Amino acid sequence: MTPKEKYYRAYMEFFETAERKRRWNLFEDVPWDKVSSVANTEARAIRIETYCAEEMFLPDYTAAGNELLRGVFGLAWFQNAWSYEESRHGLVFREYLIRSGLRTQAQFDRLEADVFSRSWKFPFPTRRQMSCYGALQESATYLAYRAQKDRAELEHDPTLEAVFFLVSRDEAAHAGFYREMIAIEMAEDRVGTLADLAHVLANFKMPGDGLIPNYQENLRLGGGGISPRLFFTRAVLPLLKQLGTSRDELKGATAAVVPLRAA
Ligand SMILES: [Fe+2]
Ligand SMILES: [Fe+2]
Repeated sequence: MTPKEKYYRAYMEFFETAERKRRWNLFEDVPWDKVSSVANTEARAIRIETYCAEEMFLPDYTAAGNELLRGVFGLAWFQNAWSYEESRHGLVFREYLIRSGLRTQAQFDRLEADVFSRSWKFPFPTRRQMSCYGALQESATYLAYRAQKDRAELEHDPTLEAVFFLVSRDEAAHAGFYREMIAIEMAEDRVGTLADLAHVLANFKMPGDGLIPNYQENLRLGGGGISPRLFFTRAVLPLLKQLGTSRDELKGATAAVVPLRAA
């Protein structure tokens, strides 16, 4: 099977599962009637607003992704299915912020103007590196949102718990698709792909980091984000295991490829 055929098959599997099992409805699957302002604090507002802002760069993510992936059916169609799913994330966070009273409409309007005054740029130039980035970024986002779901449960907020359950489940599925892309690339060029993965890992940061003012600080103040240790043990190590590789092989791939690139 050619890589293009593999991409198409991977996309069809992703899409079928999404359509049959993972679709959710903002109007019916979130218990908006239970929304309350009981647990409202500024820290809570800051962390949800920060996640919302990060999801609101969607037009940039989509534009860049379409530019990179156009011409490969399975990947371009994934990009657009992904964009639709991601569009619900910013939307549901926005609705939560307003309906819970955490933010007023005027405050949200200021956030929107601030977000759209800047734009996100691709952190890595190639499709293969962006697949590596996607796998890591989606895993990190899944872990962060999953922790928020657990926190909402402890805070007896069934509305926010449902929001983070639904959104984190999407992120886990996205991470799975990107992992599959890396596996397809590895079958073509194992050493080159692993050198790319090592490079992306060494230079990894979240999309909002450096783009949203005080991103790290706000997540820390607001009680969001994940620790470097959690990222390593729950995102990086499982990825390496699933790809059938190791940190030693990544180092070896870098040593083999980087001198050739520099030559
Ligand atoms: Fe998202
Ligand atoms: Fe995602």
